[in-house]
Formats: sequence, C-alpha cells, structure tokens
Amino acid sequence: MALTRRQLLAASPAALAVAAAPTSLLAQVAAQTPALPDLSNWDNVRAQFELDPSYRHFSSFFIASHPAPVRAALESYRRAMDANPFLFVEQSLFEDEAHNLPLQVCNEVAGYLGGRGEDVCLTRSTTESLALVYHGLPLKAGDEVLTTVHDHFSHHESIRLATERTGASMRKIKLFDESANASADQIIGTLKAAIRPQTRVLGITWVHSSTGIRLPIREISAMLRSLPQPPLLVVDGVHGLGSVDETVATMGADYFCAGTHKWMFAPRGTALIWANAQNWARLHPMVPNFSEMESYVAWTEDRPPSGANNAARMSPGGFHAYEHQWAAAAAFRMHGQMGKTRVASRIASLNDQLKAGLAGIPKVKMHTPRSPALSAGLVAFEIEGMAPQDVVKQLLAKRIIASTSPYAVPYARLAPSLVNSPAEVDEALAAVRSLAG
Ligand SMILES: Cc1ncc(COP(=O)(O)O)c(C=O)c1O
Repeated sequence: MALTRRQLLAASPAALAVAAAPTSLLAQVAAQTPALPDLSNWDNVRAQFELDPSYRHFSSFFIASHPAPVRAALESYRRAMDANPFLFVEQSLFEDEAHNLPLQVCNEVAGYLGGRGEDVCLTRSTTESLALVYHGLPLKAGDEVLTTVHDHFSHHESIRLATERTGASMRKIKLFDESANASADQIIGTLKAAIRPQTRVLGITWVHSSTGIRLPIREISAMLRSLPQPPLLVVDGVHGLGSVDETVATMGADYFCAGTHKWMFAPRGTALIWANAQNWARLHPMVPNFSEMESYVAWTEDRPPSGANNAARMSPGGFHAYEHQWAAAAAFRMHGQMGKTRVASRIASLNDQLKAGLAGIPKVKMHTPRSPALSAGLVAFEIEGMAPQDVVKQLLAKRIIASTSPYAVPYARLAPSLVNSPAEVDEALAAVRSLAG
C-alpha cells in the first residue's frame, strides 16, 4: 500500500475536509481500551465471560460469547464510530498504514498463525472463507475436487457450487468406518489411494464437528507433497484454531479457512483465510475489495489491476460491522497472553476427563478417538436406546448445554472449553450417567 486513497485524492474537496480532521481518534480509542486482565489462571479466564451461570456451557464452539477484552474493544470502536462515523472509519481504512485498522488486525492474526500480515484475508465466517477459496480457484471441466463424506455443509456446498459453475467435478470419499478407531496411517493411506491424476484440490476438515476427530494435517500435507502432481490442500480449520497447539502458517494447508468467532472468542461475524503469496496468486477475487490500493487506482484509471492477486484483494469489501472486525485483534491478543500451548493442554485435559468418564458408562458409545493427537475439544457420543436430540434435550433439563451434530447422522456433543472447569465436566458426566441409567 504505497499510496493511500486520501493521498490519491489529495486535490479533491472531500480530501481537504478530511485533512482538517483530528488525527488522534485511534489514540483516543486506544487510551479508552483497558489493558488485558491477568489470565494466568483458569478462574480468571472464565471470569471474562458473561455466560448465564445457571447453565453449564458445553457448546461454546458453536458461536462465541465475547470475553471482557473483546467486549471492551468492541465498545471502544463502537463509541468512536457513533461519535464520528465518517472521520473514524475513513481514517481507519484509508489513511496511512499506521492508522489502518484492518492491517493491524491482519498483523495480530499473523502473529498467532506464525505467518505474515499480508497473507491474512479477513472475512466474516468459515462459510464465506470456503466459498471465496473454491470460487476463486481456476477450476475447469475435467478437474476434480476431492473431499470426504465427513465435512460440514458449508464446505460441501462451497465445492458443489464452485464445481457446478466451472464444469469441474466433485467426489466424496469415506476416511473411516468408525471415527473412534481411526488411525493417522489409515486416513493418510485412504486419501493417497483416492487421488487421481485429475484431482486438483483436496478439501478436508481439521477437527470434525460431526465426530470430534482431528485429522493429521501436517502428515496429510507431507503425503500430498510427495506426489508427482500434488493437489492443492484446502482446510476447514475452524474447530482447531484456538483449541490446538499448532503453527497454522507452517501446517501444510494451501488455503486455511476458519471462523474466529468460535474457539478464538473473536467477535461474532469474524473469520479469516490464510494462504501464502504463491497460492493467493492462483485465485480470482469474487467480491470487490476495500483494502487494496492497486484495485482502486486501476479502477480510477479504467484498467484491470496489475500484479498478482493477494490476500487484500480477496477480502470482501463494502462497509462492514467494523467494530466486530477490528475487535478481533483483542481476541488474538488474549490468546497470545494465555499461550497457545497452555490453552491447548487445558482443553485436552478437560476433554480427556470427559472421555475417560464417558468410556466408563456402559450404554455410552463414543465416536471421538481417545487419543489427544486425533481429537481436540469436541466429544461426540450416543446413549443406547436414545435419539441424540433427546439426549441433548434431557441434558438441557439438567442445565447442561450440549448440542447435536448437524449432519445426516447426528450425535450428541459435549465440548469442554476454557469456559468450563473440571468440576463442570464431572457435573456433565453425572448427568449423562443418570440418563444412561
Ligand atoms: C466444521 C465446520 N465448518 C464450518 C462451519 C460454519 O462456520 P461459520 O459459522 O463460521 O461459517 C461449522 C459450524 O459450526 C463447522 O462445524
């Protein structure tokens, strides 16, 4: 971003009006936003959420409750925008890089992902991220997108809509019969055997919301790279980001799509795509952006943008609920302060506790692998003789918020996370035990 939009329009009356604006609006917001609280113990972390204390919340992965640092950032941006909608938004989007808030969010996100800010594209949901990637790929008749039967509606539909539009084909394979007994070698072997010369893209999910299994993405990526013509790897990473100790930018995904409004606790309606420069260059944008100067300059000069496609060019433009997008940085800072390893091991330990307890209940069948390497923060299970919807309903009657997986074959799910304690996991187990008789 060598030239700002304001500099470009420097001779225009609108720009002169803006030039007279206070330049310290951002500094005012920063001054009004409290520093991060002490997050060194899990009680303090739990205290950041305004969850209804009369329930035990085991479905927090569905959509985040905003923790205090995110609420404070949201409120500061909201106040600034309500006071000065034009001045604040104009300054934060179109002035110099030091004031550019989307850029600051990208840099904060990149720090967490272990990559570069310019490789982060801000979107509004996992669904939007997946759709932008699949529709952006240069697919054509004769190309195949391989995926699995285990992925989410949003992923399958993104592939279906993109392949229908481009004339490419889509194929779904089963990675395992029993998720609970699946192994990394078997999953990798099954994927390898399914790849054909026309397979251009492989679309998979890091942590499945159907069964809770976590796929070994690094090993799958290494297998793909050993092939003579490796397909591109698209990963729906929404239930791994914020729950698994990983460096996403080096994990091996060509395109990593994830909502940040689940495990990351960023504001509702926030998400990302990460890819490296080479992979961004392969894509075609679907929606005009408000982030890249070259796109704008090219438009004013009535020519196509020059240079390679990039993350900024892919980020959907139009004015958004910016207080949400910009307060996402607070959630990433919060995770940074809690520590990725610490967060992942807390989630793993609560889930281990739950799985160990469920394994001891005779009528319970678990669908999530016991191994922490093949699971993360979701536990899917059935109680013999009970429909999953009834299990969830009866747990709710005991003030335990579980959920059913929204797939053709649904299971009951409990997802212990940072908002829960070991005592709450015991309460959930006691409730399941009483339902199972
Ligand atoms: C695996 C998976 N992918 C995608 C989605 C959709 O996420 P979003 O609401 O961010 O579009 C979900 C929803 O929970 C999901 O479980």
